[in-house]
Amino acid sequence: MRTVKVVLLGASGLLGWSIYQELKRRGYKTYPYFRQSKPDVSFAEFRALNLSEDSKVTRELLDLWPDAIINCAAISSPDTVNLDPFTAKMINVDAAERLAEISSHLGARFIHVSSDMVFEGRQQPYRSTDVPNPLSEYGLQKLESEKKVLSAIGENFVILRITLINGNSPKANRSPHERILQSIRNKSTINLFDDEFRQPCSADNVASVVVELLERPNLNGLFHWAGSEVITRYELGLRILERFGFSSNFITKSSLSDSFKKVGRRPAKLTFELSPLAGKIKTKPESVAEQLEGLKVPNSLYKWYRESATDPSKYVLRHLKC
Ligand SMILES: NC(=O)c1ccc[n+]([C@@H]2O[C@H](COP(=O)([O-])OP(=O)(O)OC[C@H]3O[C@@H](n4cnc5c(N)ncnc54)[C@H](OP(=O)(O)O)[C@@H]3O)[C@@H](O)[C@H]2O)c1
Repeated sequence: MRTVKVVLLGASGLLGWSIYQELKRRGYKTYPYFRQSKPDVSFAEFRALNLSEDSKVTRELLDLWPDAIINCAAISSPDTVNLDPFTAKMINVDAAERLAEISSHLGARFIHVSSDMVFEGRQQPYRSTDVPNPLSEYGLQKLESEKKVLSAIGENFVILRITLINGNSPKANRSPHERILQSIRNKSTINLFDDEFRQPCSADNVASVVVELLERPNLNGLFHWAGSEVITRYELGLRILERFGFSSNFITKSSLSDSFKKVGRRPAKLTFELSPLAGKIKTKPESVAEQLEGLKVPNSLYKWYRESATDPSKYVLRHLKC
């Protein structure tokens, strides 16, 4: 095992979980944190820490004195942010600033994850030098977090803006395919916008980028990362149904432009220019097909899935080969 000590905040989330596995795979001494939902009781090294408790956070990190801190903790659902913006800001903005200050004090490398939602979606593709203009409270908070991080830490840091994530979350409720499978099981209707374009990435691919950035102290500043393809939410939903052998009838097409009142203002199209990062690291952006290959039926749904999918062999046979 490497002696480099890495603290990972938000390790129980969709992205943090993948980064945790990548750090372990590459032999880092990892200190993973969650707030309330430990991914699995057998993961003894996972520690609970509420980032709104400032003095506890400071004490914990000064006691550990890590070489690097990765921040994936966030109130990452725009709807949850809208319900209680004040509490969300404590995690999305204030905690990010505090972690950057602590990293600066410790001389630790700091990696903070941000979002494409800092942009309004008028121009494509966005470069990291383009001027942000968020439409939602979530986007505003992510932008504010970037500004606070930038002013708290002058060197040895990365702010990585990413896009919609496909992946396998420990709670099986965070990524698009998990939500679709859960909705089919619960017999709820699934409406997806065919005029909302995103450039999705996979949690495992972003994890690989994050760990590379950890190892490349010469790469500092604000970067963009995404997958290699732009796709509508509706089309992504259909690709997920196909991947898992469900009929396309389970998803209904709807329109973002007709739904502003219901879902609030959000960008219709967000795409990223991936240079200069893509030219400097070994990890390559993934196509949607590559991302779908890595998706799994959550264990909690597996029995239902085998009995209910239109053609479970589409997934099961490929899955067994893995
Ligand atoms: N998901 C996406 O499509 C997407 C797209 C663009 C950018 N991002 C960004 O990527 C990062 C990771 O997102 P994600 O989707 O992996 O998030 P997620 O699945 O919602 O996970 C959030 C993590 O933050 C932790 N957390 C929340 N409140 C906390 C608190 N008060 N104290 C300590 N930890 C707390 C959660 O712990 P518990 O599980 O214990 O509650 C969980 O580990 C975020 O910065 C997000 O803004 C995500």
